[in-house]
Amino acid sequence: MTKNTVAIELFNVTKRYSDVLATNSVSFQVKAGEFFGLLGPNGAGKTTTINMMASILKPSEGQIKVLGLDVKKKPVEVRKNIGLVFQDSALDRQLTVRENLIFAGMLHGLGRKVVEKRLTDLLTLFDLVDKKDRPVGSLSGGQRRGVDIARGVIHQPNILFLDEPTIGLDVTARVRIWRFIHKLRKSNGITIVLTTHYLEEAESCDNVCFIDEGRIVLKGKPLELIKEFDSEILEIESSDIDELFPSLRTILGDGRVDFKTAYFRVKKNQELVVSQKIEKIKSKFSTSISRVSIRPINLNDVFIWVNT
Ligand SMILES: Nc1ncnc2c1ncn2[C@@H]1O[C@H](COP(=O)(O)OP(=O)(O)O)[C@@H](O)[C@H]1O
Ligand SMILES: [Mg+2]
Repeated sequence: MTKNTVAIELFNVTKRYSDVLATNSVSFQVKAGEFFGLLGPNGAGKTTTINMMASILKPSEGQIKVLGLDVKKKPVEVRKNIGLVFQDSALDRQLTVRENLIFAGMLHGLGRKVVEKRLTDLLTLFDLVDKKDRPVGSLSGGQRRGVDIARGVIHQPNILFLDEPTIGLDVTARVRIWRFIHKLRKSNGITIVLTTHYLEEAESCDNVCFIDEGRIVLKGKPLELIKEFDSEILEIESSDIDELFPSLRTILGDGRVDFKTAYFRVKKNQELVVSQKIEKIKSKFSTSISRVSIRPINLNDVFIWVNT
């Protein structure tokens, strides 16, 4: 497969669960070799979309093609070419790491020798070689996720689906998973589709698609989306933020607020104007403001600003 070949195509894909519209006319393309992020909050429709691409769920309407194959008509051929790492672990906790991976390899028709070699290579990448003969149930969450991902790639698929690979993990475990994803991409040109609700994590994706309430709300290249936004974020923290917010908005313009912080977009290269406004705010509300700071924007900000 050469670059620019289309690996996955969705055409107006809708999925209904009785009265819930889990995806609503979703269309996008993933190119071969691309690292693609499907992003959105909990309940957005990410898992539903991944499961439909992986032939586990049938769309109510629309069409999906994977490597040119219609997923509905050729699910078996599609499955041979893909790896899927579920949001929840698919490992047998009673079996050891090695036994789980051998079992997975054999399901794909691989010989024992080949699986032994591959599983050792994969476990090395995850620093898990010394855990090979431990039952999966005795591993930490991060280690288990590593084994789950190894299970998903043991047959060296052309396309890998990763559903929230870093959910619930601590920073060290997340970094290890990300390091593995990048190595995998470099080493064999695999196409990866990843979902995450930690939007700021997805900045290394080639392309991302934001989904909310089953609908696509924004698509693009992360760095371009951030650049187009052309702003930084001013954060103001206060225990009385709800009372302060209307007054802050008259000074700083359009803003967003959560339980104790208000967020405002400030244009780059306008330091003087912004610092004057901040001084004004500090002198007016000094008693109740606990923090004022400016930071670069991330993909999460882009999503929040576009979508609310
Ligand atoms: N089996 C199901 N039956 C009914 N509703 C479901 C089912 N699976 C998912 N949903 C609903 O579909 C929507 C999308 O869910 P999901 O794809 O799991 O979102 P995400 O992975 O982005 O968190 C949610 O409203 C969820 O409650
Ligand atoms: Mg999900």
